[in-house]
Amino acid sequence: MKKLKNTILVIFGITGDLSKRKLLPALYNLERAGLLPEGFRIVGVSRKGTEPRDIIRMLKQSEAGKQADCPDICEKLEKILSIVDMKLDEGDTYAGLSRELSRIEAEAGRPLNRLFYLAIPASLFPKVTERLAEADLNMHENGICESRYLIEKPFGADLASAKKLISDLNERFGEERIFRIDHYLAKETVQNILSFRFSNPLFNGAWNNRHISHIMVTASESIGIEGRTAFYEGMGAMRDLVQSHLLQLLALATMEKPKTMEAAEIHREKEKILAAIRPPEPERMKEETVRAQYRTYRKETGIADSLTETYAAVRLSIDTPEWKGVPMFIRTGKALKEKVTEITVVFTEGGAESLTSARADAAGAEIKRNYLTLRIQPNEGIAVDLDIKKPGLDEATQAVQLDFCYRDAPGFEQIDAYARVLYDGMRGDRTLFATGDEVLACWRITEPVLRAWDSPDFPLHFYDNGSAGPEAADELIQKTGIAWFTDSHQVCTPPKPSFR
Ligand SMILES: NC(=O)c1ccc[n+]([C@@H]2O[C@H](COP(=O)([O-])OP(=O)(O)OC[C@H]3O[C@@H](n4cnc5c(N)ncnc54)[C@H](OP(=O)(O)O)[C@@H]3O)[C@@H](O)[C@H]2O)c1
Repeated sequence: MKKLKNTILVIFGITGDLSKRKLLPALYNLERAGLLPEGFRIVGVSRKGTEPRDIIRMLKQSEAGKQADCPDICEKLEKILSIVDMKLDEGDTYAGLSRELSRIEAEAGRPLNRLFYLAIPASLFPKVTERLAEADLNMHENGICESRYLIEKPFGADLASAKKLISDLNERFGEERIFRIDHYLAKETVQNILSFRFSNPLFNGAWNNRHISHIMVTASESIGIEGRTAFYEGMGAMRDLVQSHLLQLLALATMEKPKTMEAAEIHREKEKILAAIRPPEPERMKEETVRAQYRTYRKETGIADSLTETYAAVRLSIDTPEWKGVPMFIRTGKALKEKVTEITVVFTEGGAESLTSARADAAGAEIKRNYLTLRIQPNEGIAVDLDIKKPGLDEATQAVQLDFCYRDAPGFEQIDAYARVLYDGMRGDRTLFATGDEVLACWRITEPVLRAWDSPDFPLHFYDNGSAGPEAADELIQKTGIAWFTDSHQVCTPPKPSFR
C-alpha cells in the first residue's frame, strides 16, 4: 500500500465504545504496519477532562489491546495524540478545536489534511456538522489541505430522515467529501466478492437466472444485545443490519460488472442494482417476511411489550432480465446457535425456472444443485459443494467440497476493517463507503417492510436463545421448495488438533 499524505485525524467521541473497541486498535495496527504517515496527528474530542494517557490505557484494556504487546507503539500513539475538551452542543467551544488544529499545522509548517471521524450519537450530528462547516475548521483546497468527514451509521431512521440527513450534509460539505462507513464493505472477504465474480469466467458466465435458482444471505450472531437496550430498542434487526450491511452484500453479489474498478464505476453499478431490488408486494408481507424476537429479550430489557425484532427474514426480488424469477432470501438474528455471515449462491439445473417446476412436481426427480458459499466471517473462505462419484464399484454419488480458506493463503495478513476505513479515509478513496444514493435505495427497499410490521395484527414470532431461529423463517423459504443451507454445512472449519 502507498504511503499517505500528512493528516490530522480528529475523533469526536474518542472515549466511546466504538473508539475503544475499533478505532484505537485500528490505529495501533496501522502504526505497527508502518502505514501511518510521518507527521500524522490524532486529536481526540471529549468533555470529560481526559488525558492522552487515559486513552492509551483504554487501548491497552481493550480486547485487541490486551493482545498487543508493543510498548513502543503505544508510546508513539500517546505522543501524537492531543485532547480537546469541549461540549459538542455548545457552539462557542469549537474555537478550542480550531486553535489546536492551527497549532499542529504551525508546528508542521504547512496546512494538513483533516479527517473528522464522528463517533458520537447521531442526535449530535446536525450541531457538530453545522459548526464544522464553518470556515476555520472546514479548510479545503484540493491537493493542499483536504477536509473529509467519516460518518457512522445509522444514516437516518427511515427514508425521510435519511433524505434530510444526506441533503443537509451534502449542502455543507459536498458528497465527495463525505465517507459513510459500512465497515462490512471494508472486510477483506467482502472486497473479494467482486474480484472473485469478475475474474473467473467459470462463474461469471453463469451468474444469472438461467443457472442460478436463488441466493441466500445470512448474518447470524450468537450474542444478544449485550445490555445495549437504549441503542437496540426501536432500532431492530431490519434497520440495524438488513438496511445497511446485508443489502450491500446482496448488491455486491448481484450487480453488473463495472466498466472499470474505479470507485465511481463500482458505485454506479451498485446504485443501479439496489434501485432494482424489490420488497414483497404489500399483500404478501406476511408470507414473505418474518420478524421475531429471542425469548429472553423482553426480560433482559425490562420492556414487557417490546415489539422490536431481534430476527428478520425477507424474500426479495430483482427487477432485471438477469435476475427475473430468482428469489433473494436475507435473514439475520441475534442470540442464535452460531455466528456466521455468508452469501450462498445456488446453481441449479434449469436455473430460476426449476423452482416453479420443483413445486409443481414435489415428488419428482431430485434436482441437482451446486452451492457456492462466500463466507464473510468466521472461518473466512469460499466453498463449492459438488457431487462426485463415490469411489469404488458403487455408482452412487457423494457430496464433496472444494474450498479456498483464507487461513491457508500464504502471506495472507488480514487488514482489519476499521484500519481499512481509516486508511481509505486518509487517502480519499471512496470505493468502500456507501454513497447517499445507495443509502436511500436501501431505505426504499426496507421501508415498506417496516411499515407492514407496524400494523397491529402483524405477527411477532419468538425463538429460543441458541436455536437456529424461528420456524416461521424455515417455512418462508420452504414455500419455494427449498431450505436454508447454512444450518447443515461447514466452510473452512479449523482442523481439529491431531494427537500423534
Ligand atoms: N459501538 C459500536 O460498535 C458502533 C458500531 C457502528 C456504529 N456506531 C455508531 O458510532 C457512534 C458512537 O457509538 P459508541 O458506541 O462509541 O457510543 P458511546 O459509547 O455512547 O460513545 C459516544 C461518545 O460521544 C461522546 N459524546 C456524547 N455526547 C457528547 C456531547 N454532548 N459532547 C461531547 N461528546 C459527547 C462521548 O464522549 P465523552 O463522554 O467523553 O464526552 C462518547 O465518547 C454512534 O453514532 C453509533 O451509532 C457504533
